[in-house]
Amino acid sequence: MKIRPAEHGDIPGMVHLIGHYASEGLMLPRSSNAIAAGLAEYLVADVVGEVVGCGALQQYSDDSAELYGLATHPEHSPRGTGSALVEALIEKARTANIARVFALTLVPVFFQKMGFHTVQHNDVPLKVWKDCVVCPKFGNCDEIAMLLEVGVPVVSHSRQPALFKAL
Ligand SMILES: CC(C)(COP(=O)(O)OP(=O)(O)OC[C@H]1O[C@@H](n2cnc3c(N)ncnc32)[C@H](O)[C@@H]1OP(=O)(O)O)[C@@H](O)C(=O)NCCC(=O)NCCS
Repeated sequence: MKIRPAEHGDIPGMVHLIGHYASEGLMLPRSSNAIAAGLAEYLVADVVGEVVGCGALQQYSDDSAELYGLATHPEHSPRGTGSALVEALIEKARTANIARVFALTLVPVFFQKMGFHTVQHNDVPLKVWKDCVVCPKFGNCDEIAMLLEVGVPVVSHSRQPALFKAL
């Protein structure tokens, strides 16, 4: 499996993957057009040409970005695909000198394992003011806001030392 930037030919597979989980209410659906518009933000997991995972990083401010659109194929993705995508997206953030990566998620345990910690929705104000205010669930949101301070070493999980540079 390799993690690489998404290409136009990957879009149908990405729409299908995200749509699968959106139909279960686990993530927001994304159209081909929406993915195409943000294609540069996406990485995919590729197993001999098949897209078995995707995820994206959208910069919100000079020092913060949202990790979104994370999904792995329920049957075809090898174990570790989601972690590999998140690690690559964190590296992308680090390269862009982004200090804080946040996610809104229904799977906090996965993100905790990647070093994120739970915060209040008010701690990610740009997201709240850009997207949440137009969401039908605004005021009744069941997603958990999680934040990772990129570059801060976290030692509570065996994966962490490889992910974070010591200050
Ligand atoms: C969440 C998701 C991306 C994880 O991908 P994955 O390829 O299964 O993750 P990995 O194999 O790298 O798992 C890493 C660890 O997280 C755990 N994990 C994975 N999915 C989990 C979940 N839904 N709940 C709790 N823990 C989870 C794994 O057990 C593993 O733990 P371990 O290292 O102790 O063995 C994938 O399950 C998915 O696509 N879920 C549906 C869509 C979704 O909720 N996306 C997140 C939107 S913000």
